[in-house]
Amino acid sequence: MGGTNPYIEKPAAELPRKPYKVTFHRPDGPAIVFEVDPAKLPYGPTGLPGSILDIALNGGAAGLDLEHACGGVCACSTCHVKVVKGLESCNEPTDDELDQLEEAPDLSLNSRLGCQCVPNGSTDIEIEIPAWNKNLVKEGH
Ligand code: FES
Repeated sequence: MGGTNPYIEKPAAELPRKPYKVTFHRPDGPAIVFEVDPAKLPYGPTGLPGSILDIALNGGAAGLDLEHACGGVCACSTCHVKVVKGLESCNEPTDDELDQLEEAPDLSLNSRLGCQCVPNGSTDIEIEIPAWNKNLVKEGH
């Protein structure tokens, strides 16, 4: 499933204009660094174009399959990630995203929904996949 959710406020997101790096810190494995190519966005149909979920799931080279029970339309909280570096380069969360995030365990100030968080590429960013999610993160395709 992919696409957008017609029942929520449309998030405003600025797409990157130059390549930037995303580092995924996994709870049980080495970090994975992936360079985002703005010319290839969106990588796939799931999550907002250029979102962390789009990059992790569809970017391919990252080899990450981040959980996304609702198909990336801001209707669950399984794509919860923490932006540990570069949060200032990401779009502001909507009220709908914040409502969904409240359902996520292990919430912190830098928590975002991977499907709604779109970095603008002005800086490299680092993402932490919460440990509670470790059984849901698969490596390879
Ligand atoms: Fe459901 Fe992101 S995949 S809210």
